[in-house]
Amino acid sequence: MMQTSKTRRIQVSLPKMHERQRQVLSAYLSGKWRYFILRWGRRSGKTKLASMIAFGEALQGKKVFWLVPEYKYSNTAWRDLKALVRRLTERVPGLIQSNEQDRIMTFPRDGWVQVLSVKNPDSVRSEGVHLAVIDESALIRRWEEVWQALRPALTDYRGRVIFISTPKGKNFFYHLWKDHEGDPDWYLSHMRSEENPFLPPGEIEEARRTYPPLFFRQEFEAEFVDVEGAFFKREWLRFADAPPPEDTFTVLVRGWDIAITPDEGDYTVGAKVGVDREGVLWVLDLVRGRWDWPTVVRTIRETALRDGPQVSQAIEAVGVQKGIWQTLMREPALAGLALYPVYPRGDKMARALPLASRAQAGRFVILQRPWTRELVDELLSFPLGEHDDQVDALTTTLQMLAEGQVTTIRGIW
Ligand SMILES: Nc1ncnc2c1ncn2[C@@H]1O[C@H](COP(=O)(O)OP(=O)(O)O)[C@@H](O)[C@H]1O
Ligand SMILES: [Mg+2]
Repeated sequence: MMQTSKTRRIQVSLPKMHERQRQVLSAYLSGKWRYFILRWGRRSGKTKLASMIAFGEALQGKKVFWLVPEYKYSNTAWRDLKALVRRLTERVPGLIQSNEQDRIMTFPRDGWVQVLSVKNPDSVRSEGVHLAVIDESALIRRWEEVWQALRPALTDYRGRVIFISTPKGKNFFYHLWKDHEGDPDWYLSHMRSEENPFLPPGEIEEARRTYPPLFFRQEFEAEFVDVEGAFFKREWLRFADAPPPEDTFTVLVRGWDIAITPDEGDYTVGAKVGVDREGVLWVLDLVRGRWDWPTVVRTIRETALRDGPQVSQAIEAVGVQKGIWQTLMREPALAGLALYPVYPRGDKMARALPLASRAQAGRFVILQRPWTRELVDELLSFPLGEHDDQVDALTTTLQMLAEGQVTTIRGIW
């Protein structure tokens, strides 16, 4: 119930909630706790719940930040918020203004909700807020800096914070939880995805069948697991000091995972692999860097020319990457080389399964080179680690092989 002016009274009913959502909502409304950690599995309903709380607060004239590790993580919340707004504006048009560009909603009596990415911690304005929701908290990369930037915004109104996330290994989110167990100011809630009655039947069972157990435990049971070996186990990996003779390989492919990020963020990676007659996948070479567009194009061109015509180049061709592939196809110097576009399908875990199964079967060998250590670190922490571009580049080569785009170069003699 709210009072928009002296003359109007509007009743807003919130959507139905599941039991765990109701529990947290009533804890929130009781005012007994200032901080909330919802350590909930994927698809358990944490964004839905927090969007209802954020909406309810703004409707009462409160100021709310909705913070995400990166902009792309805000799409569901923004959609959920707009759905809530529609319930009201159908009856009272214009009551709430949504600005798509800045992802900010303004409510009567100075309430607002603003969606902000904390990828750059400085973008957290220090304007006072009553509530900050931090969605997918565990994915935040520079947590200390984000917290320093956010703290001043919480002092004016003794702002409250709701952390909602699925765990990511034992990073700061784990410590946040551990540090506040038993703290009277903190409300801690743990929930497994299968407790969400609104999910289509079978969805979680399907995930249980698809993913490695440790990964399932983290993502769907919201357990804090040790990152190492979540997907690739150390004992599966084999190493060699030198490559076998060239004619051992039936195919040679270099897979490219491209990111246009000159300063920070993801890497561009080109991983060259060879498959021998026993189906063993050898990682023979790896180039990796954070580059702008011209440098990416130049690096692929130079690397491809160095690899020569025996090596097929597999380039992920979605979004920006498609433009890179098109640019390369127009280069006369590359006309004698095989450049294939690859269209990634499914999520990154599903895509990495063929590589993991090959590794488990002892059919994955990595050369000892200066790049080996970082590749191994990434493999062992995948998919929970900070980066997955090397794994992506490797899975791209397998996808290309599976799709039969590469002709066997020497298999026939
Ligand atoms: N209160 C609710 N009413 C109806 N469906 C819900 C509700 N809460 C969650 N769901 C369903 O569960 C799915 C996952 O919810 P979401 O909040 O996006 O999960 P999470 O943020 O935990 O991944 C939603 O797409 C929706 O189908
Ligand atoms: Mg969510």
